[in-house]
Amino acid sequence: MRVYLDHAATSPMPPAVLDAYVDALRVVGNPSSIHGAGQAARELLETGRDAVAASIGADPAEVVLTGGGTEAVNLAIKGLYWGRAPRRRIVVPDGEHHATVDAVEWLASHEGALLDRVPVDELGRIRVDALADVLGAHADDVALVTALWANNEVGTVQPVAEIAALAAAHGVPLHLDAIAAYGQEPIDVRALPGLTALSLAAHKIGGPAGVGALFLTRTAPVEPLLHGGAQQRARSGTQDAAGAAAFGVAAARAVDGLAERSVRIGRLRDRLVDGIRAAVPDAVLCGDPEPGGRLASNAHFTFPGCDGDALLFLLDLAGFAVSTGAACAAGVSEPSHVLAAMGVPEDAARGALRFTLGDDTTDDDIDALVAAVPGVVAQARAAGLSSREPTLGR
Ligand SMILES: Cc1ncc(COP(=O)(O)O)c(C=O)c1O
Repeated sequence: MRVYLDHAATSPMPPAVLDAYVDALRVVGNPSSIHGAGQAARELLETGRDAVAASIGADPAEVVLTGGGTEAVNLAIKGLYWGRAPRRRIVVPDGEHHATVDAVEWLASHEGALLDRVPVDELGRIRVDALADVLGAHADDVALVTALWANNEVGTVQPVAEIAALAAAHGVPLHLDAIAAYGQEPIDVRALPGLTALSLAAHKIGGPAGVGALFLTRTAPVEPLLHGGAQQRARSGTQDAAGAAAFGVAAARAVDGLAERSVRIGRLRDRLVDGIRAAVPDAVLCGDPEPGGRLASNAHFTFPGCDGDALLFLLDLAGFAVSTGAACAAGVSEPSHVLAAMGVPEDAARGALRFTLGDDTTDDDIDALVAAVPGVVAQARAAGLSSREPTLGR
């Protein structure tokens, strides 16, 4: 049996999205062309954009379509940084996604940005008190605040209303990376008055990879990253009508029945958490244990005495696709910077495993995983922590 429990990495395309995508790919025409073929492509493009905008309560004119989530995050962070020159400071929490971490570090090393780091607590929640202190001390020189809506590794949902209120009170633009939260938490950009920019990616909700969007308020001071035909405000390049069409279908599905879906997936997640706790009593659940404090789809554990890579490979052999949650550099997993920011010791962090559920997850999937985990943990423990190479087949 193959069980896919890595929806946070990418989520399978439902048939309705795939059909819309394939149909749209057959349409010939550049959306910027004025002939009929171009206008047909334009129609697909704008219908997709409308649905994406509606899914977050935005106006279509506020949605810039991008080539994926990483581009959206980079456009928000670098674009706002340059657009707010000569301000030098970027306020950024610990434990952000690498799209943010690497973008702000690049700005620091190449453009002289000053990074004001905001700690997270032991559940991975941004310390709003520390954010208030930083803004209180330096607001005049802050180009932007950027933060995750929900953490992609441990699933902790951030106090975005408080963060937005603080940014608004200090008159500083706020970018939220909502890529992990999209389709799981209700997102209404109008409910967050301090919000200037918000990043989305289609493939996390069953749309195509390489298709994303950046919500940008009309007055957002953003310098484009790509220069060319000025097809969109803040982004040049021929627009991907098929990608937008598929994104639009996925976006509509993601918000339609979101509350019921969260309840169903959250119940499966609780079954998984309870099952693993019973089967491996020393496994430690990371992130917020309260249902409202974490994404319904996320269960993240550390297994003492195990190497997460070994667990991942053994589970893969047993038919389960899961993740260590942490990024890979050149094929070698680094201990998670998110867990480090939460104060998890490096040894414990090496035994991390993330399970993320989706629409196709069933009770049987969860029960099969829970039945497989104790044997896999015993094997990984026997292999020991001394080697970081997986010892499969021994
Ligand atoms: C929170 C978060 N931000 C940014 C990204 C990057 O998005 P993409 O893979 O579409 O470039 C991801 C995807 O892993 C993510 O989970």
